Formats: sequence, structure tokens, C-alpha cells
Amino acid sequence: MSLLVVLKRVIFAAALLPAAALVYSAFTGGLGANPIDYITDTTGLTALSLLLITLAVTPLRRMTAWNELIRLRRMLGLFAFLYACLHLLTWVVIDWFFDFWAMGADVVERPFITVGMATFLLLLPLAVTSSAAMIRRLGRRWQQLHRLVYVAAITAVVHFWWVVKADFRQPRLFALALSVLLGFRAWWTWRTRASSRS
Ligand code: HEM
Repeated sequence: MSLLVVLKRVIFAAALLPAAALVYSAFTGGLGANPIDYITDTTGLTALSLLLITLAVTPLRRMTAWNELIRLRRMLGLFAFLYACLHLLTWVVIDWFFDFWAMGADVVERPFITVGMATFLLLLPLAVTSSAAMIRRLGRRWQQLHRLVYVAAITAVVHFWWVVKADFRQPRLFALALSVLLGFRAWWTWRTRASSRS
């Protein structure tokens, strides 16, 4: 079995762990005093972490020249989207119990919800077009569309920043990680253009 296949299986199992832990805690009374907050925070944090890990795949591939790593990107991105869906579902089903008027008002009135929703809507077309058939069908436009992932990562970090009221250590860490990833991308683009000119 190749190293990539092993890595794929390990990542698949690891990405399912937060969801499995939530289900286990739900059945064993481990969701704490405020279960809705616990589920919202766990799914939100996992979605954001997986989104940044997805963004780290390309820099890692370029640094190591291990091109096959790219095959992990789609799976990681889809897991990020899965947790974003669970996060949204928690809000729709448990927080508001399908009260669409109240949800609409929440999106309009609370900026952090507006930005969270914008993040989800940015991720949606990326998940829908992630299949090999879509990559073939969209051609060059696929890459242009999928640059939206950087915008989604920025809005996700802003959403997190706005949620936090006192201890900014975690959002600061995510903002720093995202800055490094965006910085790498900018540097790589600059380097490629400079070497193609010379
Ligand atoms: C779909 C629309 C979204 C809605 C309605 C929404 C709503 C919420 C709510 C109500 C909270 C908890 C606020 C609190 O504790 O007071 C939250 C927290 C959070 N959300 Fe979202 N969110 C959305 C999308 C996203 C997306 C797409 C991501 C990441 C990719 C994300 C990441 C987070 C994170 C990291 C937290 C903080 C978790 C923590 O405090 O530990 N959210 N969101």
C-alpha cells in the first residue's frame, strides 16, 4: 500500500473523529451545560481548522515536490464543508427550529452571522464543483472559481473573531496561520512571474 493511500485513510478517520466524539458525548451526557453552544463551537472550529489544512496542501506540495499530495486536497475540503453543513444545521434545526423569518432577521441583524452565512455560500459552489467531471467541464474556469476558497478562509476567520468576546488567542492563531498561507501564495505567484520574465 502506498504512503499516500495510508495517509488518505488516516486523514479520513481523523476527520471523522470530531463528529464521532460529538455523537458519543450526546449519548453519554458529555455535551456540558450548554449542548447547543458545544455542538456549534465544535463543528465551527473543526470546519475552520479543516479549511486551513486544505489550504496548506498546495504549499506543502510545492515545498516537498510531492505532487501526489494534491489528491488529499479534495477530501480535506469536502470534510471542511461537511462540518460547515453540520454547523449550519445546528443553527437551523436546534437554535431556530426552522423559523426562517427569525433566521433571516438574525443574518441581517448580527454581522458575525452575516459573515458566517457568506462563508458558507462561498464554500457551497466549491463543494458542488469538486468532482473530477466538474473539473473537466469547467476547465480553466474551475481554477478561477476555486480561488474563492481564499476569500472563504478570510471571512471564516473574521466570523470567528467576531464570535469571540474576551480571549482572542485562538482567533489570533487562526489569523496568523491564514496570513502565512496567503503570504506563501503571494510569494509563489511573484516568484513564478519573476522567473518567467527572466
Ligand atoms: C452557515 C452559516 C453560519 C452560521 C449561521 C454560523 C453561526 C455561528 C454561531 C451561532 C456561533 C456561536 C456563537 C457563540 O458562541 O456565541 C458560531 C461560531 C463559530 N463558527 Fe459559525 N456560523 C456559520 C458558518 C461558519 C463557517 C462556514 C465556519 C467555518 C468555516 C464557521 C466557524 C465558526 C467558528 C470557528 C466558531 C467559533 C467556535 C468557538 O467559539 O470555539 N462558521 N457560528
